[in-house]
Amino acid sequence: MAQLIGGLGTSHIPAIGGAIHRGDQQTPYWKPFFDAFPPIQQWLGEKKPDVLVMFYNDHGLNFFLDKMPTFAVGAAEKYVNSDEGWGIPSLEALRGEVDLSWQIINHLVDKEFDIVTCQDMLVDHACSLPLKLFYPEGNYPVTVVPVCINTVLFPLPKASRCYALGKAVGEAIAKWDSTKKVAVVASGGLSHQLEGERAGFINKRFDLQFLQSLESNPEWATQFSIHELVEKAGTQGVELLSWLAMRGALTAAGSGVKKISGDYHIPISNTATAVLALESLA
Ligand code: DHB
Ligand code: FE
Repeated sequence: MAQLIGGLGTSHIPAIGGAIHRGDQQTPYWKPFFDAFPPIQQWLGEKKPDVLVMFYNDHGLNFFLDKMPTFAVGAAEKYVNSDEGWGIPSLEALRGEVDLSWQIINHLVDKEFDIVTCQDMLVDHACSLPLKLFYPEGNYPVTVVPVCINTVLFPLPKASRCYALGKAVGEAIAKWDSTKKVAVVASGGLSHQLEGERAGFINKRFDLQFLQSLESNPEWATQFSIHELVEKAGTQGVELLSWLAMRGALTAAGSGVKKISGDYHIPISNTATAVLALESLA
C-alpha cells in the first residue's frame, strides 16, 4: 500500500514567480522568504516522495465566477500552468498521477463529498509555485494530484468540512494499491486581504496560533465559522483552508506528526507568508 510520508505548506504569492524569474532570491526583500526553503528541499531530497497531492485554490484561471465548484479534483495526465493575465511567468507543466486521482475521487464520492472531476485542468500560481520552490532546478521528480478548494466565491466550504475532506483524501492515499510514497501539500495563506477597506490586513497573532495548532491541536481552527475566519485572516487569508485539509490527511495517516522545519515572515507583497514541513510518524 502507498505511504503518506508527510505534509508541506507554503504561501503562493504571484510575485514569487517574478522574483525567481529575475533571480532576486538573495536581495534583502526576498532573502528571508527564500531562506525558508533549503530545509524543505533537503527533506524532499532525503525522503523522495513520488507523488504530491496538492490542496490549493484556483484564482479565476480554470474556474471563473460563473462556474465555481466547492471542491474539484484533477484527473489529467498533465497540468499546464498558464499566466492569469498579469504577466506572471509561466512555469513548467506538472505531470499527473491519474491512478491516484481516481482512487481519491472514488473514495471522496463514497464518503459523500460531491466533487467535480477534471480530466482537463489548467493550474495557476497556487499549484505551480510550490513545485518551483520545492524543486528550484526544475524537471520535477514528482507527479501530482491537484485538489482545488473554493476560497474565492461565497459560499465557501466550512473549516470543519475542509478538514474532513483532507481526512478522506488521507484515507484514499492509505488504501491506494501502490508502492509509491506520497506527500500532501497546502498552498496559500496565511493572513492577507487584497481589496476593500481592510486591504493589507495581516493578523500575526492568529497566524502563529494557527501554525502552532497544526502541530499540536489540528482541529483548533475548525471551531471558527467561515465568516470568523475571514475576519481573523482576511478575505484571501481563508486560503488557510488548504492547510487544514493537508493536516486532515496527515491525521488520517495515523500517529501524529513531527515538525521538520517552518518559517513565518511579514510581508511578501500583501501577505504574511508561512512555510511548514511536517513528517508523518505513522
Ligand atoms: C497575493 C497573494 C495571493 O495569495 C494571491 O493569490 C495573489 C496575490 C499578494 O499578496 O500579492
Ligand atoms: Fe492566493
